[in-house]
Amino acid sequence: MTTILPSPASGPRPLLGDVPAAGGPAPTDLAAAVAGGAFAALRTVVGDLGPTGTLVTIAASGLRGRGGGGFPAGDKWRAVASADDPVRYVVANGYEADPAQATGRLLMETRPFAVVEGAAIAALAVGAREAIVAVRAEYADAVRALEAAAFAAEEAGYLGRDVLRSGRDVAVTIRTVQGAYMLGEETVLLKALEGRRGQPEQRPPHPSERGLFGHPTLVHNVATLAAVPWVVVHGADAFRAIGDPDAPGTMLVQVSGAVAAPGIAEVPTGTTLRTLVDLAGGVAPGRTFKAVLVGGPTGGFLPAELLDTPYTFAALRDAGAHVGSGAVVVADTTTCLVDLARLLVRFSADEACGKTIPCRIGLRRLAEIGQRYADGTARPTDPQLLVDLADDCAASALCDHERLAPSPLRTAMRYFGPEIDDHVLRGTCPAGVCGPVRLAAAAGRQGGPR
Ligand SMILES: Cc1cc2nc3c(=O)[nH]c(=O)nc-3n(C[C@H](O)[C@H](O)[C@H](O)COP(=O)(O)O)c2cc1C
Ligand code: SF4
Repeated sequence: MTTILPSPASGPRPLLGDVPAAGGPAPTDLAAAVAGGAFAALRTVVGDLGPTGTLVTIAASGLRGRGGGGFPAGDKWRAVASADDPVRYVVANGYEADPAQATGRLLMETRPFAVVEGAAIAALAVGAREAIVAVRAEYADAVRALEAAAFAAEEAGYLGRDVLRSGRDVAVTIRTVQGAYMLGEETVLLKALEGRRGQPEQRPPHPSERGLFGHPTLVHNVATLAAVPWVVVHGADAFRAIGDPDAPGTMLVQVSGAVAAPGIAEVPTGTTLRTLVDLAGGVAPGRTFKAVLVGGPTGGFLPAELLDTPYTFAALRDAGAHVGSGAVVVADTTTCLVDLARLLVRFSADEACGKTIPCRIGLRRLAEIGQRYADGTARPTDPQLLVDLADDCAASALCDHERLAPSPLRTAMRYFGPEIDDHVLRGTCPAGVCGPVRLAAAAGRQGGPR
């Protein structure tokens, strides 16, 4: 299991609670979980709060989706709850598309009751009888933990028929899904759950209007739903008091790369990137900080001068990165950002589903520009072409993949222009990574032509 890093202050941890207590009860031990507060929120929802009160509480809490986009949860819940169609679903997105990311996995393995309870509360609030937790099939331990938690909860009357004698039925089922990067995108995930091959769908209609099997569906990242019990028990104001007022609460951030102690931290939103790096032990001994990649494969490289950027949806977007998968990767001076940007954009081009032509062709062309930069063979027109293509991708995007995929190259250009110039104008790779350029650099070091 990935190391859990300390949180920055002694504030609440709505997602991870106090896990893992060394030698403590198993995460699937229902009695221990209930003793620790599990299902108290569900009891409140079927009791005094009711569906309407729950909708109001979630909206008032300011909870935003943790799946990357940061859309207000309350708006989605209200949309599904007010749909004409009486058949509705809740889907918890536990796919985790970013192959290097494990925050959702950690959550599902260590706090399965929080995920299951959050999904059940959402179902009760929006009028769904079924909530499906869709888990990446490779996450065998997470699947086992969730299945055990859902089974134990149903046996005890928290789920299934007549939840806590409320007259309401809520089934929480665990489904495995397997696929490539695009499967994390909500409309693709829904098709996978229907047993169909998937490409993203044009929106509107959003899944909240027409989702699983054509019925209104509330899709949330597992971390969004896992925060719900805490919000209900402690109240909207308490949640709003944590972190950034525009996107309150905490987030799970995975800090890796050239840090001394990589791991996952639960931090209040608005925590600076600098603090995140510090929580992971700071830059690893003997390494020198160069950049931080924020947002996963479609994220952006930010320089040392931006380390005080708060970890919020808005601030990261303004800086050219995004929350994305919740990944923060520190690159040191042995990393060539031009090469890494090239690889990331090629990954995105390879993973694009090909449904829309600007994405299919545009990302491929961008990857080629990245390759030319890394090879030191860029054309004079490439910088402008890169900007134009990235703008076109953003304008024509059917799904966010196309809009975000140019970010590594764009931020490399925006903040690390001299490193690109080294490649393009001088034929050198300061990190000594790039192929033909490296040879040129070696030749240069030996006094040969540059
Ligand atoms: C290419 C792509 C991959 C995505 N992968 C994930 C993922 O792995 N997990 C996730 O929760 N959301 C992912 N999303 C976002 C989902 O489409 C959707 O917005 C999210 O699950 C909604 O949950 P939220 O409201 O809790 O943020 C992805 C989006 C795109 C465009
Ligand atoms: S924008 Fe790209 S990834 Fe998204 S649907 Fe179109 S081709 Fe597929």
